[in-house]
Amino acid sequence: MKNYLIIGGGSGIGKSVVQQLSKAGHKVYAASRSITGANLASGVESITFDISEELDTSRLPEHLDGLLYCPGSINLKPFNRIKPEDFQAEMDLNFMGAVKVTQAVLPLLKKAENASVVYFSTVAVQSGLPFHASIAAAKGALEGLTRSLAAEFAPKIRFNAIAPSLTDTPLAENLLSNDKKREANAERHPLKRVGTPEDIASMTTFLLSEQGSWISGQVLKVDGGMSSIKGM
Ligand SMILES: NC(=O)c1ccc[n+]([C@@H]2O[C@H](COP(=O)([O-])OP(=O)(O)OC[C@H]3O[C@@H](n4cnc5c(N)ncnc54)[C@H](OP(=O)(O)O)[C@@H]3O)[C@@H](O)[C@H]2O)c1
Repeated sequence: MKNYLIIGGGSGIGKSVVQQLSKAGHKVYAASRSITGANLASGVESITFDISEELDTSRLPEHLDGLLYCPGSINLKPFNRIKPEDFQAEMDLNFMGAVKVTQAVLPLLKKAENASVVYFSTVAVQSGLPFHASIAAAKGALEGLTRSLAAEFAPKIRFNAIAPSLTDTPLAENLLSNDKKREANAERHPLKRVGTPEDIASMTTFLLSEQGSWISGQVLKVDGGMSSIKGM
């Protein structure tokens, strides 16, 4: 049994990861602003936490085998309408939040035999997509952080990121709010559907577990073929 902390474990991909890890018998701590034990599997500890605050580690165990940072955004706007404060807000949520949480739990990760940290990037970092300037910039910083920390903490702690394409979660609600949008978005992907939270969670739990123990410093694309396959 391992100990995992999932920041943003009450919704979308994070919630699916919490379910998979807890079903596999691990001890899971799930944190977010509105999290309650009521919508989590039994045995999962819920911690109310906003990334603008300092993480109180007193409710965490002595060591952590894994950390997952989920908070993120989808704010798509033409570049000339993105204000400096919008860029800052994206950086705070997607990048600085991950930095602060990782620093807060580093002593606990170091106490594990081999810990694993996973962050979420987006397909829009490695593939240029219109209107994605602010999110691509913030997630690009997170990809740089991933590789840098992977080098700094090898061989003790592994750091990886996952770059999903459009996935059916509350965050993507506006992009999938009717059948027409759903079909158009499915059609854009070579595998002809958008992602499910479970598609992304399966890769996440793999990277968090021993199965991924020889993988570090990677950004894994889980995107229905979006970034690397071209249709005829
Ligand atoms: N869904 C997609 O299409 C897609 C595509 C590419 C990349 N991604 C990335 O994948 C990751 C997970 O996305 P998702 O779709 O699963 O999102 P989601 O359904 O919105 O879940 C995000 C989780 O983060 C928590 N959270 C948000 N702001 C927070 C804050 N300030 N402090 C603490 N917790 C906070 C939320 O809970 P509370 O509201 O209770 O705080 C929620 O549990 C994100 O980083 C996203 O950028 C998603």
